Amino acid sequence: MQTTLLLTWATGYIGSHAVVAFEQAGYKTVIIDNLSNSSKDSLDGIEHILWYKPDFFEGDIRDKDFLRSVFSRYTFDGVIHFAGLKAVGESCTLPLHYHDNNIGGSIALFQVMEEYSVRKIVFSSSATVYRADNISPLTEDMPLGTTNPYGTTKLVIEELLEDLARLGTWSVIPLRYFNPIWAHPSGHIGELPNGIPNNLLPYVLDVAIGKRKKVSVYGDDYPTHDGTGVRDYIDVCDLVDAHLAAYKHLALWYTPINIWTGKGSSVLDMISLVEKVTGVTVPYEITTRRPWDLATCFASATRARELLGWQATRTLETSLENGWKFLQNQLKGYSEPV
Ligand code: NAD
Ligand code: UFG
Repeated sequence: MQTTLLLTWATGYIGSHAVVAFEQAGYKTVIIDNLSNSSKDSLDGIEHILWYKPDFFEGDIRDKDFLRSVFSRYTFDGVIHFAGLKAVGESCTLPLHYHDNNIGGSIALFQVMEEYSVRKIVFSSSATVYRADNISPLTEDMPLGTTNPYGTTKLVIEELLEDLARLGTWSVIPLRYFNPIWAHPSGHIGELPNGIPNNLLPYVLDVAIGKRKKVSVYGDDYPTHDGTGVRDYIDVCDLVDAHLAAYKHLALWYTPINIWTGKGSSVLDMISLVEKVTGVTVPYEITTRRPWDLATCFASATRARELLGWQATRTLETSLENGWKFLQNQLKGYSEPV
């Protein structure tokens, strides 16, 4: 019998790619999202790839009656939980909103999962749960601690899930990652945030297509090879493959797992790469550091390799070509599926 999963997002960036990956791997996916940071356009993109639209319900995960109305229609095997607000800067000015949405939403979701005896979950956590004074490469047993409300919401949800796993009836894997990038190779789905992008790559691409004038590079005096921040950028398709591997390996345990490539690139490296692949010059200016940024952040992917048999396979060049193709498609607009 086909396994049915609930995906709490999936009109969002990573979620839309996960829907495609899980459907192509033989799962039936059911999507919920309140469209607060996404639109139904991504369902059209998914349809271009799959030739059908998965079941979608618009609603808020804080609304337990809404959740029950979805849970009562299906027999879910488990949940891939991505829904959440994710802008670190915004979380510092709206901490109550972040705690209410991310933690409140997760508690409501876990309560309804318990009511319906659905106790398997892969949770989209973040590397921001690691204490800032840990030295990269980060490993899963390093001390945890956060510096901003967004990170705190991720840590609290992890702790809550660990408490549930201690009951002996829940199977939980939080995946900790940081910088997913680009798009599906079809060019039909990719990162399309509502409003001004918070993350580097969508901003750089907005500049490359002429939508914005220049990139602000947040600091060039970090102790890195060119002074700008170094991150481990991971192709979104590698990332969703890790979710598939994690779901298959769920057991009665709680195991956080880092999902990384193990290779770091600076802000200026990424701007040069965009220029090389697109052939477009990307103007930038050096500005002040963001208060929460680290100089370098990357992690060991050993546990992912050993426990899940997963490792990243896509190159940054391939990822960028896919991202560029997606943006060109967006500029053209979608036609009906052919
Ligand atoms: P996204 O904003 O594209 O997707 C999140 C989705 O959640 C959006 O579609 C939004 O509308 C939905 N949502 C938010 N609150 C909701 C609510 N209360 N009820 C229902 N839907 C709600 O973000 P993404 O980049 O796809 O990230 C997905 C998850 O991965 C998030 O939890 C994020 O914190 C986590 N994450 C992202 C990154 C990254 O850099 N993109 C890194 C680490 C972790
Ligand atoms: N950067 C710029 N200019 C920009 C945007 C970013 O120079 O316009 C730099 C940042 O300073 C950093 C790098 O590009 O050095 C990457 O920044 P992003 O905002 O793209 O990503 P972060 O590493 O800050 O964010 C990641 C995840 C979040 C997570 C956060 C925790 O995307 O989900 O780490 O700090 F919460």
